[in-house]
Amino acid sequence: MAETLQRYRMVIAGEYVDPIAGDWFETENPYGGKPWALIPRGDAADADRAVAAASAAFPGWKSLRPSDRGRLLMRLADLIERDAMHLAEVEVRDNGKLLAEMSLQTRYMAEWYRYYGGLADKIEGSVLPSDKEGVFTFLRYEPIGVVAMITPWNSPLFLLAWKLAPALAAGNTVVIKPSEFTSASTIELMSLIAEAGIPAGVVNVVTGFGADVGAALVGHPAVAKIAFTGSDGAGQTINEKAARDFKHVTLELGGKSPNIVFEDADLDVAEAGVLSGIFAAAGQTCIAGSRLLVHRSIHDALVERLIVSVRQIKQGDPMDAETQMGPIATGPQHAKILACIEAARSEGAICVAGGSTIPDDGVRGNLFVEPTIFTGVHNRMGIAQNEVFGPVLAVIPFDDEDEAVAIANDSRFGLAAGVWTRDMGRALRMSEKLEAGTVWINTYRAVSFLAPFGGLKRSGLGRESGIEGIKAYLKSKTVWIATDVKPANPFVLR
Ligand code: NAI
Ligand code: MG
Repeated sequence: MAETLQRYRMVIAGEYVDPIAGDWFETENPYGGKPWALIPRGDAADADRAVAAASAAFPGWKSLRPSDRGRLLMRLADLIERDAMHLAEVEVRDNGKLLAEMSLQTRYMAEWYRYYGGLADKIEGSVLPSDKEGVFTFLRYEPIGVVAMITPWNSPLFLLAWKLAPALAAGNTVVIKPSEFTSASTIELMSLIAEAGIPAGVVNVVTGFGADVGAALVGHPAVAKIAFTGSDGAGQTINEKAARDFKHVTLELGGKSPNIVFEDADLDVAEAGVLSGIFAAAGQTCIAGSRLLVHRSIHDALVERLIVSVRQIKQGDPMDAETQMGPIATGPQHAKILACIEAARSEGAICVAGGSTIPDDGVRGNLFVEPTIFTGVHNRMGIAQNEVFGPVLAVIPFDDEDEAVAIANDSRFGLAAGVWTRDMGRALRMSEKLEAGTVWINTYRAVSFLAPFGGLKRSGLGRESGIEGIKAYLKSKTVWIATDVKPANPFVLR
């Protein structure tokens, strides 16, 4: 029945184009498991075409008046707000996350375009102090060039906005390679980019698989920077390859973030934070608070509460406003989560809630996983070290603050951490000692266009959002001007 599926095309130089090789693949709705659209299977030849379009558009875009670039981004922000519900529906159809959350995200992401639109004409260089007579030195910022953006399936447009808005504001041109599981929403965004008046070729989209079209972009000599969000494994591959050509990279990778509850925490507040940290989006977020570190004196009380709450989580159709957890986004991800659960059982962790898939009832498909809690976890177990990217919580007791810090930091990841305590001195000590790009005190899963975000260790390199976010799309140049005309001694350093 492939002929009844919506057929998407790639967007290169402002045109909707077919892949050169003429191949498409199906994208599925994880709720029900049926294919709903055809996505072009691009390859290196398509990547070439898109990079050529972005290279051709670069001189014009970078020399546009910065205020005009900013105005175009603000117009795009308005259009995104206008169409936020439509964009959210496309995303939900492709990745099964809740419409309630995705519609908030698609509306909120307009703020990134508005914020960086405002910043476009505020990229100021500086006059440098001088220690020499007769010279004037200044620093200017310039765009980097063509940026390849490689994005994941969990929040395709939201995570793209963190990259695209600052990159465009800074004067770069772009080729986007969305996840093969969720390409549709990025292609749909392209019509708004055109409607906003952003010139053809400034933003291009090639679709397909990471190993072919993604790898082709990373290795392309005319790509100056790669901005990537996804797994640490793919991030490492991309980083190694980019290093060969000294390309700029921003890498936003996975995590195994600790959510640390002290004995003096407000348990109602902490419990809600723990639930949101691991069961929102069915745990499919890079910032999932997948390790619950809890003071031994309240361990049993908190676990009891969580078990009761988890039983009440409503799983079902992500389009339904009542639903709290939808399906897992992809078949491979569903299989990976179940394998992680089995591995945890076999290494001796105790499953106190959930622990299985939910069988298909003929409507929902077979990608649901129960919200799952393991106790009896030691931090060296696989379930405490490896990213599951699903609704699986590992609970680890601790006895004092030092032990909490030691366990929290004993991880190859360092994306985020949560701390629940009423003691502000302790909160500040923890925020200093935790190895994480973001520390949340008595809250969790908060992000903003105003606040830089990114990881340490295998959670990535660089920061997105805020003023720091635009620096990742600029390079500096130092300019020396002689103000005296005396010839200098050519044989010594000036
Ligand atoms: P992935 O990291 O394999 O894919 C992310 C993006 O990178 C996709 O667009 C993919 O096509 C592309 N890609 C993959 N390999 C590439 C390569 N060698 N060169 C260029 N591009 C490449 O993530 P995937 O397979 O979608 O999910 C697997 C795991 O990744 C999940 O289980 C989860 O642990 C993690 N993940 C983390 C995310 C985060 O927000 N940090 C988001 C999505 C997944
Ligand atoms: Mg899909």
